[in-house]
Amino acid sequence: MTDTFIPYGRHFLDSSDIAAVDEVLRSDWLTTGSKVDVFESAVADYVGADYGVAVSSGTAALHCALVAAGVGDEDEVLMPALTFVADASMVALSGARPVLADVKHEDLLIDVNAVADKISPRTKALIAVDYAGQPCDYIFLRRFADRHNLCLIADACHALGSSQDGRKVGSLADMTVFSFHPVKHITTGEGGMVVTDKAEFAEKIRKFRNHGISVDHQQRAQRATWEYDVETFAFNYRLTDFQCALGLSQLKKLPIWLVRRREIARRYDLAFKNSPYLKPLHVNDAGGHAYHLYVVRLNLEVLSIDKAEIFKRLRQAGIGVNVHYKPLNLMTVMQRKYGYLAGDFPVAEKAYEEILSLPIYPAMQDEDVQKVADSCLHILSSVK
Ligand SMILES: Cc1ncc(COP(=O)(O)O)c(C=O)c1O
Repeated sequence: MTDTFIPYGRHFLDSSDIAAVDEVLRSDWLTTGSKVDVFESAVADYVGADYGVAVSSGTAALHCALVAAGVGDEDEVLMPALTFVADASMVALSGARPVLADVKHEDLLIDVNAVADKISPRTKALIAVDYAGQPCDYIFLRRFADRHNLCLIADACHALGSSQDGRKVGSLADMTVFSFHPVKHITTGEGGMVVTDKAEFAEKIRKFRNHGISVDHQQRAQRATWEYDVETFAFNYRLTDFQCALGLSQLKKLPIWLVRRREIARRYDLAFKNSPYLKPLHVNDAGGHAYHLYVVRLNLEVLSIDKAEIFKRLRQAGIGVNVHYKPLNLMTVMQRKYGYLAGDFPVAEKAYEEILSLPIYPAMQDEDVQKVADSCLHILSSVK
């Protein structure tokens, strides 16, 4: 075991972030104040959307988007088999059924042909996941969603700052969901946001994050009344003002962090260019990839040990590799509740045997990148 451990992802905070939070902590408004509006507008402007609604996590943002889309009992929602469990859990907890589709071998993004086979009269929405930070093909998905009258929700929790053909993710779906967890592109500790061009969606989400209350406290103050109504029960998914102040401060640094993430990815690409042992995922447009993750596939045919053992040896060498994700059909809850089985999604399941996420985060030094690449090549060549 080495004493310097390189994690797979890590936040970066500087004194300007701490000062921004400190200022709000000394103010009268710790929550439901003006910093929330400012942060929402800043993220919406950055991605080219008309509205942003800040919530307490990416998971909450998914829940809000599903509710705004009208997803409920008896509905079905399409999503890739290879994604974070929150996509499925939020659909299930909205009363609907998560319907999985396989992913493409080369980039692990949802396979549109597989999705087409899963459409039913109950299908209400499609969640496209920008896996690792690479945007899905939104031009195709938009047409597909329109043809089948589906709400297109982008789970861009990996993909803040990514783009397709120069258009930012956040402006390519009916609603787009971001996460501000510390391993993501910018952080608010915990936090998330839904961005959309539709006022109706934004308004529904504002209510849903605030117990379903018809008018918020600022509107009540303006109207000089205490009175409010609740038509539908909902949640407290609000994000605090000091978290929004942190998010705003972080957002200023996002452009240079994206440059750094892409630089690190280029270094890995070069290091692994001719390796027979592993291969990075296919990238459709390096300039549009936000590189939340740098994912490689092991060539197990030329290696004498499996991924679990390689994972263990890399961790022992101080390399914080990770795995994103165990396919959802292999989760007990999906098998018990919906009858999914091992073997249902061969592409996602084969990928699961082979993929590793290597460390990537803006503060990672060139020496760290080199150490990760050298350790991978060294360990893999010793077990060929
Ligand atoms: C693809 C994806 N969707 C949703 C989420 C949920 O975000 P959060 O952790 O902010 O709830 C995550 C978080 O890791 C994610 O990676």
